[in-house]
Amino acid sequence: MKRLTLLLIILAVTIGCNKQTEQHTTTNKDLTILTQASEKIINTFQRSLKGELMTAMKAGGATNAITVCQQKASEIASTQSTNVYSIRRVALKNRNTNNKASQKEAEILERFAKDPKMGSFTVSDFSKDSSSVYQYYKPIKTGKFCLKCHGPVESLDDDVKSVLTEAYPNDNATGHTVGDLRGMFVVDIKWPEAREVVTALLADSI
Ligand code: HEC
Repeated sequence: MKRLTLLLIILAVTIGCNKQTEQHTTTNKDLTILTQASEKIINTFQRSLKGELMTAMKAGGATNAITVCQQKASEIASTQSTNVYSIRRVALKNRNTNNKASQKEAEILERFAKDPKMGSFTVSDFSKDSSSVYQYYKPIKTGKFCLKCHGPVESLDDDVKSVLTEAYPNDNATGHTVGDLRGMFVVDIKWPEAREVVTALLADSI
């Protein structure tokens, strides 16, 4: 009788464990979907923000573009996010305090900074029993165009400097040179909840 009870316990535990692994299994196909979807979400965000910045720059110069960026960056991020996925930009030396990297994100940024050849990568966070949150990280490098607002303070135009000081009294996002790590994109995707939405997003060729 004792043996039977023991056997039943072992059986129950084994089935329980199997069920858990089954819930966490993500196939290579899933990973491909997650990566492609993250890239697409990032590209759409980047294209919209760059479009807004360029238009604002042409219309009223860098100072106007700063104001537009201040309004539009978070707005575009929210329109590019749903209840099953989201996009953010974070930095070690952030301009907007909302974009300050968390401890975990700071460690990833430091890895990107140490190894400039390192590309994007995905990690999963098994915080819940039945689903995972996939996080996709992509480094953001400083280009020449970015220096107008993120370059060394002494190289910034006076009007840019004063608008930045006014809008961001605790600005840390200056002092960069071309090729520097400026920050990174973080895409969070709830899986498998986002499967349908994300598959539809990839099918949409726009
Ligand atoms: C016209 C000025 C301007 C230019 C040019 C500009 N930025 Fe920014 N950038 C800003 C402002 C303003 C913010 C803060 C936005 C906010 O309040 O969310 C910002 C924020 C950021 C952030 C989010 C992290 C943080 O520091 O708050 C990243 C990443 C970033 N910029 C990267 C770039 C890159 C890369 C380029 C070049 C391709 C660039 N920026 C060009 C003004 C500019």
